[in-house]
Amino acid sequence: MELAHRPAWRWLVVPLAAVMTAAFSFAAPASAQSTLRQAAADDFLIGVAVSNSWLNNSTFANLAATHFSSVTAENEMKWETTEPSQNSFNFSPGDQIVNFARQNNQHVYGHTLVWHSQAPGWVQGLNGTAMDAAMQNHITRLMQHWSDDIQRWDVVNEAVSDNNGQLRNSFLLNAMGPQFIENALTYARAANPSATLCLNDYSIDGINTKSNAYFTMVQDFIQRGVPIDCMGFQAHLILGQVPGNMLQNLQRFASLGLEIWVTELDIRIPRPVSQQNLQQQANDYQQVVQICQQANCDGLTIWGLHDAQSWVDSTFPEFDSPLLWDDNFQPKPAFNAVLNQLGGGGGGPGPTPPAPPTNLTANAGSNSVSLSWNGSSGATQYQVHRALGASGGSFSQIGTTSGTSFTDNNVSPNTTYRYRVTASNANGTSDPSNTVTVTTSGSGGPTTPPPGGADCAVTYVANDWGGHPGFTADITIRNTGNTTINGWTLTFSYTAGQTIEPPGWNGTVSQSGSTVTAVNASWNGTIPPNGTANVGFNGTAASVGNNPPPTSFSLNGTSCTVS
Ligand code: XIL
Repeated sequence: MELAHRPAWRWLVVPLAAVMTAAFSFAAPASAQSTLRQAAADDFLIGVAVSNSWLNNSTFANLAATHFSSVTAENEMKWETTEPSQNSFNFSPGDQIVNFARQNNQHVYGHTLVWHSQAPGWVQGLNGTAMDAAMQNHITRLMQHWSDDIQRWDVVNEAVSDNNGQLRNSFLLNAMGPQFIENALTYARAANPSATLCLNDYSIDGINTKSNAYFTMVQDFIQRGVPIDCMGFQAHLILGQVPGNMLQNLQRFASLGLEIWVTELDIRIPRPVSQQNLQQQANDYQQVVQICQQANCDGLTIWGLHDAQSWVDSTFPEFDSPLLWDDNFQPKPAFNAVLNQLGGGGGGPGPTPPAPPTNLTANAGSNSVSLSWNGSSGATQYQVHRALGASGGSFSQIGTTSGTSFTDNNVSPNTTYRYRVTASNANGTSDPSNTVTVTTSGSGGPTTPPPGGADCAVTYVANDWGGHPGFTADITIRNTGNTTINGWTLTFSYTAGQTIEPPGWNGTVSQSGSTVTAVNASWNGTIPPNGTANVGFNGTAASVGNNPPPTSFSLNGTSCTVS
């Protein structure tokens, strides 16, 4: 049985200019490279999602051509565009992108053959047999039309549900049943036997219910001989939330013999964006590129070139600024971080990040935890990461320092935390230090509520996903007191067996039994009098419609009014 389909000649079809670029990047020190594709190792493609409307802008086109060795069509190869009515194909938007790639010696990553979204109405109305035939025709026509140029396709996009490890409830699943995925892969192999076939999804970057579902699925496919060659991790990330186990996750898929791609990387920042946020974003980007290199990714694609192009503004209005260049095509700190990391990760001798800090120790009081560690040679900064509880929960960065100690003042009494520290310099970030687990002491007597009672008001809104027990919760915390809140931990309990999906966004959310704890992110811990902070997460109710809101909330041990 063939584990993964890897035609030996695939990499021989490399244009001369790309070979010269590769040779140049090998010969010159990485730091001397000024474009991403020059800096990258020759077996690591660095990609960007482009759209025809932006390719008409010459600044955009120049940057896309000079910095990237692979392009993905942001929308132009999706079903609604390529086959707007049945068996009537419109290849010209996709052809324009392919022509751009040809002119610039770039690979094209095909995106996407089968997806529940951006699919035309006509296909959604077909019965199972007719839909399966239409799907085969669609896959075959697209793969054959672009067989000279596209050697890698997202065959099925976003097939798994967000929270329960089941297949996503979609018109595809409803009409064709779960076998639509393997049918699509089988049709794709037949349409172009030399193409690399990928499954692609978001929120599978770390180890979680959703990525476990894919892991089980592809193991089963491999065992049964269903064609699958590659796994695409979209990596639409939120600032400060690179999953702590992303490397392990990518490696477990790689260990099945699959090619690994980070396919749609962007890192969105909650508004308003500060300079500090942009530095953190650079750090996050650098980490993802490094993880991808360490997992032997075949490539990494960023979901757009500059912030003005990004889908984030319209899709996640509370967030901004997710890409490497700003609205005016100026490179952001994240650009330099990616450039350095690509150059430093080439495998040969070259700049390397510091070694991990060692001997991390922690001392806890009731309202603070002091950390210290042995420094790493060449480090210019240390990043402190914290997770809630003795196990589970994910790490998020809570602070940085240039020294070798740090005090975390944003802790609650009687609470267990895990800490670890990474070291960085211009070449990248180290692996994490040892992890320490520590429990803060009791607060030493009853706390006196401030005069007038609670100094916080909490608004909890849960939007149910119709017909499904899933929901998205958004919590607003208002400081109704006269003093600034510096760091917050919000706790509340569910009464109807709801479960939440950590770590959430705008903070870190975890659950123990029915109790949920939300801790501020590094950028929203300070709430001035009358100011607010938000935290959000997805959850699942025990059954559809049975989702009563929590009735009491407590912030840093003081109960809040519910508004
Ligand atoms: C997005 C595009 O960026 C937007 O322009 C479009 O309106 C919606 O789709 N996952 C995917 C991509 O696989 O195709 C999506 O692209 C982003 C999420």
